[in-house]
Amino acid sequence: MKTQQYEIGMVGLGVMGRNLLLNMADHGHSVAGYDKDVAKVAALRKEAENLNIRGAESLPEFLDLLRVPRAVMMLIPAGAPVDAVIHDLLPHLAHGDLIIDGGNSHFTDTDLRARMLAERGIQFLGVGVSGGEHGARHGPSIMPGGSREAYERVRPIFEAIAAKVNDEPCVAWLGPGSAGHYVKMVHNGIEYGLMRLIAEIYDFMKRGLGFTDAQTHSVFDRWNQEELNSYLVEITANIFSRIDEKTGQRLIDVILDEAGQKGTGMWASQDAMDLQVPLPTIDVAVAMRNLSGYKDEREEAARVLHRPLSHCEGDRLKFIGQMRSALYAGMIITYAQGMALLTVASVKREYHLNLETIARVWRGGCIIRAAFLEDIRAAFQARCELPNLLLDPNISNKVMEHQENLRSLVCAASQLGIPVPGLMVSLGYLDAYRSAWMPANLIQAQRDYFGSHTYERVDAKGVFHTRWSPE
Ligand code: 6PG
Repeated sequence: MKTQQYEIGMVGLGVMGRNLLLNMADHGHSVAGYDKDVAKVAALRKEAENLNIRGAESLPEFLDLLRVPRAVMMLIPAGAPVDAVIHDLLPHLAHGDLIIDGGNSHFTDTDLRARMLAERGIQFLGVGVSGGEHGARHGPSIMPGGSREAYERVRPIFEAIAAKVNDEPCVAWLGPGSAGHYVKMVHNGIEYGLMRLIAEIYDFMKRGLGFTDAQTHSVFDRWNQEELNSYLVEITANIFSRIDEKTGQRLIDVILDEAGQKGTGMWASQDAMDLQVPLPTIDVAVAMRNLSGYKDEREEAARVLHRPLSHCEGDRLKFIGQMRSALYAGMIITYAQGMALLTVASVKREYHLNLETIARVWRGGCIIRAAFLEDIRAAFQARCELPNLLLDPNISNKVMEHQENLRSLVCAASQLGIPVPGLMVSLGYLDAYRSAWMPANLIQAQRDYFGSHTYERVDAKGVFHTRWSPE
């Protein structure tokens, strides 16, 4: 057996790891794979015929295949499994070797691992990979963070396998430490928000307008040819045309209305709370996934809190236009919230992010890719320190052009009793953000009244306290 000749190794040969390896090999790179499940190693070997891929059944055998200094990538579930693999690798690694975590790890774990490995002379990259199985095989969006020097070692491989938009690879070094995993977490937060908005529009179509699945398919399909063009709108259209093999019905109608989560969207909301960045659309998306899990309670509540649901009367074409426009406005607002979190995290977590680069990396391959990413890229190109996308002249024009329809749809849905909290808070965020005055003076007064927390005045500097009640 020839040793030390493979450029990069992969630990974890589940569908993502295997597909990434095959993608690397397709682009002429020599790669080795290892999984403790020998069936997965066998599956890799079977697919790898005629490609420069080697499967190994033990860790020492695998590490022996790799060129020194070694580059070992992992694609395994986040959390304890990542620490376990690092623990198993460490005794076999030498100074200068590189570990790459390509899973959805929490950014704080990535920081701890990078520090621990640096003390042992091992380089570490925390890399977000988006695009699912198909993306991994044919071109994902890749979000690497860690030492730039370490990134340079694998840059040719990552650039070769990444999705391309106008010949530009959807990958770039994003920043030090956990920057890559942080950006992936925010990507997923935006993903949750967009999915929620689309689901609310579907609900309005189904329960508000009585659309059939075929009608829903054709409306989303048309929207995907226009301004709303995006991966999530595209797959939504496809979902509504899929027939269930078992029942012959549309598959969507036999899927249970409870959505799970691995937690990355929730992490984005949690960190936004810590950094005091408002992300209401993403918060609601997480909350509604949680509420979907209370199926039994919802069934009881549907009886206890019954209110008849009537269909929307009126011009259907008008409603279709309103929904398209409302979804587009909500989508802009969701991206704006995610980018605003990145802007603040960039400073507070010392990532020194370039948001234009992030928009470029997100234009292809990832789940939130959309025509609108070009507007985001242009906005940060024009003003790299832009604090919020809604302040960009082109984007603000677009959102203001569509906000009346967002308002009308939210009104219609609330009158019917169709829950559209994602659209509602998106509108609320827009209206609050564009309020030069907010009723926070009253909050200050209340805090001072019950807790002597003091308040600030508009006409003098300093902090003030009032004895609000006589006793
Ligand atoms: C991606 C996805 C991917 C995965 C999410 C799903 O960018 O390819 O975001 O990372 O599908 O982990 O997340 P939930 O299970 O939390 O919905």
